[in-house]
Amino acid sequence: MRLGFLRRRDSNESSFFMKICCIGAGYVGGPTMAMIAFKAPDISVTVVDLNEKRIAAWNSETLPIYEPGLDEVVKTARGRNLFFSTDVKGAIAAADIIFVSVNTPTKTYGVGAGRAADLRYIESVARTIAEVATSPKIIVEKSTIPVRTATTIQEILAAHPRAAKCQVLSNPEFLAEGTAVADLTNPDRVLIGGERTPEGEAAIEALVAVYARWVPRERIITTNLWSSELSKLVANAFLAQRISSINAISALCEATEADVDEVANAIGKDSRIGPKFLKASVGFGGSCFQKDVLNLTYLCEHFGLPEVAAYWESVIKINDWQKRRFAANIVKALYNTVADKRIAVLGFAFKKDTNDTRETAAISVCRDLLTEQANVVVYDPKVPAHEIVADVLGKGAPANPRLTVAASALEACAGAHAIAIVTEWDEFKTLDYAAIFAGMPKPAFIFDGRNILNLAQLRAIGFRASGIGK
Ligand code: NAD
Ligand code: UGA
Repeated sequence: MRLGFLRRRDSNESSFFMKICCIGAGYVGGPTMAMIAFKAPDISVTVVDLNEKRIAAWNSETLPIYEPGLDEVVKTARGRNLFFSTDVKGAIAAADIIFVSVNTPTKTYGVGAGRAADLRYIESVARTIAEVATSPKIIVEKSTIPVRTATTIQEILAAHPRAAKCQVLSNPEFLAEGTAVADLTNPDRVLIGGERTPEGEAAIEALVAVYARWVPRERIITTNLWSSELSKLVANAFLAQRISSINAISALCEATEADVDEVANAIGKDSRIGPKFLKASVGFGGSCFQKDVLNLTYLCEHFGLPEVAAYWESVIKINDWQKRRFAANIVKALYNTVADKRIAVLGFAFKKDTNDTRETAAISVCRDLLTEQANVVVYDPKVPAHEIVADVLGKGAPANPRLTVAASALEACAGAHAIAIVTEWDEFKTLDYAAIFAGMPKPAFIFDGRNILNLAQLRAIGFRASGIGK
């Protein structure tokens, strides 16, 4: 097989068919590279990061992220053809293909603050590659970036004669946290965008060949660079929009005695709508939906499309409103005051099966309850106490005695005036609610922000139970 500018290595140089390096050992870089290494033992994969602690954790028994099934994948490949290192430059120099999987958070300063993507890490990586690359390499945008970011990378590379022949591809990642291993093993599609030139096509084919080790060829889509970059933002915007749509309808259900789960089921049976991503909730969280929709609105405005920007911005507005509405409903139900009342918040991660708390709805709910002077007791099976406190109060902020973290759901609920389910962890479905009820002041309230509990059974126990859109 001819791989354009990639060559087979001779046996003296390395026993590996190809060398991949990934810059950024986060929620995306770690799992995606572990999967490539797992599926392709003849490809050497080195994941690098400036964060020494994170790399040490990837090399330890306790991986830095919790993701079902990931331990087995990493432990099979680690040391065989999967390596974690802080030697960023060394890994770049040795690699044929370089994935860029650094963070692209919302900008917090200057022009576009609060909406545009902060591309400082992308640019810094591009500059490092340009300095270090002495042979043509394929550079793969794995991070989610604004459409046309490849131009920036190409211009930086073009300014360095030795790096000028590198090809830039876009290969956005669609995995969801909590199901990353399943999503990577069996993706709906892999998207690869590149330049429609002979060199660009060769680079695309080289990357297609990597995924084709385990992904059926018909699920690997190739496009031009800009379609690929934009498709990632649009996919997240459509997913977020579905949640805001059903959450908006949840409020109407509450006003009309319709049941949002029944409505979701009824509309989801229409094959044009489909059943997924119609679960009403306390609001979506996670590092990407908000960031990417905001980025999309910023891009629309930049390209002179304020109406399009306003349309997508409403997705975020509804989400913010839904989070606030949940906390406000608790206060209202508890006779308009939660001051000095103990409220158990069950779940803090932005969804089950992850320890990630970025933009979790729990932060907003806890803050609103603390503003009302409630005594908030949080329990999450995977998020450490110090992180919960730092997320709610701000890093380095003085402790607030009203915010505490319990070691179990039962401990959190003991003596609570109300329970709020904020993350849909499976263990919350099977708690002994009768025993919990016995230990609570009456009337005892439960607010199911994920619609995972049987409200009729809870009411039979004696709870004043309510869900979202019920
Ligand atoms: P993350 O913050 O978990 O990881 C990014 C890592 O990059 C960090 O460990 C950071 O130290 C490292 N880094 C930053 N600059 C560096 C540099 N110059 N050299 C070496 N390392 C550097 O982020 P993440 O959640 O993995 O997301 C990465 C990208 O993937 C983002 O653009 C995100 O939007 C996108 N994405 C994330 C998910 C997800 O589920 N988290 C899914 C799809 C796409
Ligand atoms: C999302 C996308 O699903 C991925 O395809 C994408 O790659 C990723 O963002 C990204 O770009 O980072 P993720 O945020 O990990 O993945 O998790 P989701 O399962 O999408 O959940 C996001 C939020 O929406 C969670 O808070 C979840 O609880 C909430 N949600 C999801 C609902 O409230 N209702 C639903 O029906 C589905």
